[in-house]
Amino acid sequence: MPRRRKVYEGKAKVLFEGPEPGTLVQYFKDDATAFNNEKHGIITGKGVLNNRISEYIMTRLGEVGVPTHFVRRLNMREQLIREVEIIPVEVIVRNVAAGSMSKRLGIAEGTPLPRSIVEYCYKSDELGDPLVTEEHVTCFGWASPPELDEMMSLSLRVNDFLYGLFVAVGIRLIDFKIEFGRLYQDEDMRIVLADEISPDSCRLWDIESNEKLDKDRFRRDLGGVAEAYQEVARRLGILPEGGPRDLKGPAVMQ
Ligand code: TMP
Ligand code: ASP
Repeated sequence: MPRRRKVYEGKAKVLFEGPEPGTLVQYFKDDATAFNNEKHGIITGKGVLNNRISEYIMTRLGEVGVPTHFVRRLNMREQLIREVEIIPVEVIVRNVAAGSMSKRLGIAEGTPLPRSIVEYCYKSDELGDPLVTEEHVTCFGWASPPELDEMMSLSLRVNDFLYGLFVAVGIRLIDFKIEFGRLYQDEDMRIVLADEISPDSCRLWDIESNEKLDKDRFRRDLGGVAEAYQEVARRLGILPEGGPRDLKGPAVMQ
C-alpha cells in the first residue's frame, strides 16, 4: 500500500488524501466508542461491514436523487469520496422513541412517534454534541437558513427511503444520525450527504422480535455486536464474500 497523507482521524474512520484533487479515501476502523469516548472497544470486522453497508446505502440514495459524497468502494475497508466541508451539525431523524430522547422526555423506548422528528446536535467532542435548535444553527453560522432547509428536506427524504428499504428486509428504522457537507464544484456549491450510514449511526430493530441490530449492542453490553452488523449486511444481500472469516483488517497504513 502506498504511503498516503492522513488528513483526519476520527473515532471510527480515518481520512487520507485521495488520488485526485477534491477526493479523499475514507478508511473504516474496527474501533467503537460510546458516550463521547468514555467507552472504547474493538469490534472485529466492523470496518469491513460498515464500509460495505454505507456503500450500499449511499449508492441506493444516489439512485433516487439524494446527492452524496460517495464515489466508489476501493477495497474491503476503504472508499473513495469527494472532499467536502463538513457542516458541524448532526441531523438525527427519529421514527420511534429511543436512546437520548426517551431518557430526556421519559417516553418508553419503542413508542412509535405520531410523526418523524428531526433534531440537531452541534458537533463538538468537548461539549458532547449538545442538542441545539435551528436558531442556534443559523445564529452561530454553522449553516445558513437555506442550507438548513436543504438539510432538513434531504434528511426527511433519506428517512422515507431508508424506512422502506429496511422494512423490506424485516428491519424497523428507529432513528439515525447523518451529516452533511458543502461540495464546491467550479463556481457552484451544493449540500451533499457525507460521513457514513451504518449500524454505528442508526438504530435498527428486527421487525418481529425487536432484537437490536446496531451499535446499542455495544453501548449496552448486549454481546453479539459483530453478528448483528453481519445480519444487517446479510439481509441487505451484501455480506462480503468469504463471510466473516476474512474480515480482520490490516493496521491502518500511513
Ligand atoms: P441518541 O438517541 O443517543 O441521541 O442517538 C440517536 C441516533 O443517532 C442513534 O441512531 C445513534 C446515532 N448517534 C450517532 O450516530 N452518533 C452519536 O454520537 C450519537 C450520540 C448518536
Ligand atoms: N460515537 C459517539 C462517541 O464515541 C457516541 C455514540 O455513538 O454513542 O462518543
